[in-house]
Amino acid sequence: MRTFLKDSGADGVDVVLNSLSHDDYIPRSLALLVKGGRFMEIGKRGIWSHEQMAEARPDVMYEKIAADTMMEKEPWRYNAYLKRLLGRAEAGGLQPINCHLFDGLEKGVSALQFLQRANNIGKVVISQPSRMLCGPKDLAMLSGGMGALGIVTAQYLVEEGCKSMALLSRSGKPSADAMAHWDWLKACAIDMKVEKCDVSEESSVVALRGALGDRRVGCLLHLAGVLADGMLPALSREHFEKSYAPKVHGLYHMCKHLEIAEDAVRLLFSSTSALFGSPGQANYSASNSVLDALAPAWSARGRPTRSVQWGPWAEVGMAVQKNTLSRAKAMGVGALNTATGMGVMSSVLFAGEALVGAVPVRWAKYLRSAYPETPRFLEDMEAEVRKAGPAPGAGGGGGAMELASLPPEERLEAVRAGIREMAREVVDDGSLATDSPLLESGMDSLSGVEFRNRLVTEFEGVRMPNSLIFDHPTVNELAAFISGQLGDVAPAGGAVP
Ligand SMILES: NC(=O)c1ccc[n+]([C@@H]2O[C@H](COP(=O)([O-])OP(=O)(O)OC[C@H]3O[C@@H](n4cnc5c(N)ncnc54)[C@H](OP(=O)(O)O)[C@@H]3O)[C@@H](O)[C@H]2O)c1
Repeated sequence: MRTFLKDSGADGVDVVLNSLSHDDYIPRSLALLVKGGRFMEIGKRGIWSHEQMAEARPDVMYEKIAADTMMEKEPWRYNAYLKRLLGRAEAGGLQPINCHLFDGLEKGVSALQFLQRANNIGKVVISQPSRMLCGPKDLAMLSGGMGALGIVTAQYLVEEGCKSMALLSRSGKPSADAMAHWDWLKACAIDMKVEKCDVSEESSVVALRGALGDRRVGCLLHLAGVLADGMLPALSREHFEKSYAPKVHGLYHMCKHLEIAEDAVRLLFSSTSALFGSPGQANYSASNSVLDALAPAWSARGRPTRSVQWGPWAEVGMAVQKNTLSRAKAMGVGALNTATGMGVMSSVLFAGEALVGAVPVRWAKYLRSAYPETPRFLEDMEAEVRKAGPAPGAGGGGGAMELASLPPEERLEAVRAGIREMAREVVDDGSLATDSPLLESGMDSLSGVEFRNRLVTEFEGVRMPNSLIFDHPTVNELAAFISGQLGDVAPAGGAVP
């Protein structure tokens, strides 16, 4: 360098662009810098602070350039740089550096060996196609896209390379429990449109078609849904219309009026209410069942469609909003965290199955608490549970087993006392009589379900139908029913030693 400077008759260099920090490279480069020169640091490790530089060379203008933090802290500035670069690249002024491409993560080892042998000139790139089967140029349409799962799914789509999406909802407002994800989405440089569209109204979908112009939908994710719960005797036509409107009519209108590519993936958000049934949700369950029936039928006709019967999601969404996670847990049904849900979603899209259930279940507990008798479609699960043997504390163990070993009269009294306490808590009435019908004493259908679930947990090993408190409406009747069943699980030989 010194020879070069001498030959060119220069005193020093005006600018140092440095990325070398080990040994004494910084002071050496600095020694070559003219008075009042610029030192631009692009290194990361072992670099000098502004104070160090000011002490060593107060005349030098020192700047640390960190593209990664600039992206985060000053996205507008970074965006402007990239745009300028893009313009020059498009005009042919800048050529991309040489690239050696490996297709798919499974080629990772070969790519690293290639690097290790120093065979590369320029970059070594491992490409991974989007797991969402949605090309970068495709328009992803999410009905219910401003809801909680809509927003987290949209975020995932962007992470997987989607560049263009339309989020539909009636209000156009993002779900309150997904605001952090929404802020992330808004900050993304993608073509994202929020469209106020009531998919259950044909005219609204026709208007949306007009707004889209000639854009084709490359993948459709159908999440629009509302809950209108009620126990069977209270369900009216209106309840069914509310559930069917977004899920079933909405899907019909979108398929009828939007231009959806023939090979576009359609992902339908169904629910385990259509797989297992769900107390108080017959209408919701029925509307989800329609989606489940359509998915295999459409797939068979060459339009790839997947219906996922989701269990409750743990972090955001309807189940969190309606506070149903603890009720589900009491029955042995767990909740999906967002990362797992997204993993399931991409596996479902890749696998060929049109209808998939996605829910973590503790089968022993669930089968015991949900059905008086295991339905045929879950018999395989029951066989697995039997093979695995009793879970610790299950099958009438612990307190239930102790009760079971008591003489019948004592057992009945102990069970009655336990149920009375629980019922008094639920109806918030310390003087509730044991012969009062619970449903006329402040317990409603849903708190009745919760009450039943607590009984299931308390008296493990006893099969309790969903209709328990209709069949046995008072504390006395419940106690007789449960105590009788506990008698059946008492260990041979009577009392516990
Ligand atoms: N979260 C869960 O645990 C869970 C479990 C199983 C299945 N699912 C299913 O997953 C989907 C999304 O659930 P989520 O938890 O995200 O619920 P959410 O937060 O309530 O979102 C539902 C979205 O649908 C929109 N919507 C309702 N009716 C509509 C209509 N007619 N036209 C257009 N948009 C409409 C709502 O917005 P507006 O009110 O502004 O229209 C809202 O943005 C639902 O279909 C649900 O059945 C969820």
